[in-house]
Amino acid sequence: MTESNDLSAPDRPHTVTVSLGDRSYEVTIGAGVRHLLPQVIARLGARRAVVVSARPPRWAPETGVPTLRIPARDGEVDKTLATVERLCQSFADFGLTRSDVVVSCGGGTTTDTVGLAAALYHRGTPVVHLPTTLLAQVDASVGGKTAVNLPQGKNLVGAYWQPAAVLCDTDHLTTLPPREWTNGYGEIARCHFIGAGDLRPLPLHEQIAASVALKAEIVGADERDTGRRHVLNYGHTLGHALEHLTGYRLRHGEAVGIGTVFAGRLAAALHRIDQARAEEHLTVVRHYGLPTALPPEATPEAVLPLLRRDKKATDGLTFVLDGPEGPALIADIPAETVAATLAAMPTEAAVTD
Ligand SMILES: NC(=O)c1ccc[n+]([C@@H]2O[C@H](COP(=O)([O-])OP(=O)(O)OC[C@H]3O[C@@H](n4cnc5c(N)ncnc54)[C@H](O)[C@@H]3O)[C@@H](O)[C@H]2O)c1
Ligand SMILES: [Zn+2]
Repeated sequence: MTESNDLSAPDRPHTVTVSLGDRSYEVTIGAGVRHLLPQVIARLGARRAVVVSARPPRWAPETGVPTLRIPARDGEVDKTLATVERLCQSFADFGLTRSDVVVSCGGGTTTDTVGLAAALYHRGTPVVHLPTTLLAQVDASVGGKTAVNLPQGKNLVGAYWQPAAVLCDTDHLTTLPPREWTNGYGEIARCHFIGAGDLRPLPLHEQIAASVALKAEIVGADERDTGRRHVLNYGHTLGHALEHLTGYRLRHGEAVGIGTVFAGRLAAALHRIDQARAEEHLTVVRHYGLPTALPPEATPEAVLPLLRRDKKATDGLTFVLDGPEGPALIADIPAETVAATLAAMPTEAAVTD
């Protein structure tokens, strides 16, 4: 944890609008905002609700309408089509219609899975997310990407299904273990370099609101990830490779932290930014208590084939990199430059010595 885990209550909640025409919605951030749920449901005109919650029942408040409560578990293991089928069967048994509402309450695994069930049930039933991890509040619950895993890979089956509302209750974060904080901070740290500016001096609820506002703006411009939305992958190209190489010993946000430091160094090696800006990557990632050194498994020989797997049909490698006009997708980066930058990164062993 860092000193920025300041959960002192703001005077009133922050509201961020995701502007997508008639599918626009509000993300509300603050202490106690879960209690807005009955209001949100009344506004939707739903007559019944199903609340799928990975947290104890009191975490998702009364809905104001007849409600079926389904307990769930956070975690990648239950993020499957089998869970989606089980949920949809329960929705049907309860008599849920497409004018009713599904509510998710849990981490990003739960908001992703319940979001997909809602997307598929009756070809689309409104869903309201109550994300309970920092990562789910700043990232997973906003933007409409839903998915489950297959044995062949993560997030391979999904749909775009924007929620009807998102309630980010910062009270829910008080029980988060330290590594789940750093996990979320990885996504906040990346925002520093993709348009949010320096969030470090702000209290936590404002950092969440600013991260959500940035994502909302990007999603509003490129909902289906055909252009600008790729900047959200800042630090993620190496990050994904590190998660994979460590057998997911590194949490996603931790791997993104290291990937962000690397992206700064690679951008400097390509003369897109100066050394001071590259150093800023290290300072920001460190500020959030994230790791900054490569794990021992991440030798250039092990990492490069994983980076290549991502790429389209070019010889070089593709990264989202900072530059004079802000972050951009840069293709055809020579493998030697990537390898040399990796080789020059500090390693975990060197840091703990
Ligand atoms: N849809 C998107 O755009 C998007 C974006 C980013 C990530 N994701 C997905 O999000 C998932 C990761 O989400 P996550 O990091 O929240 O993981 P998670 O859902 O597995 O939750 C992490 C851990 O925190 C625990 N937890 C949840 N809330 C808690 C609380 N308030 N107090 C104490 N413990 C709590 C959970 O039980 C779990 O052990 C991944 O599956 C990823 O693919 C989706
Ligand atoms: Zn991420």
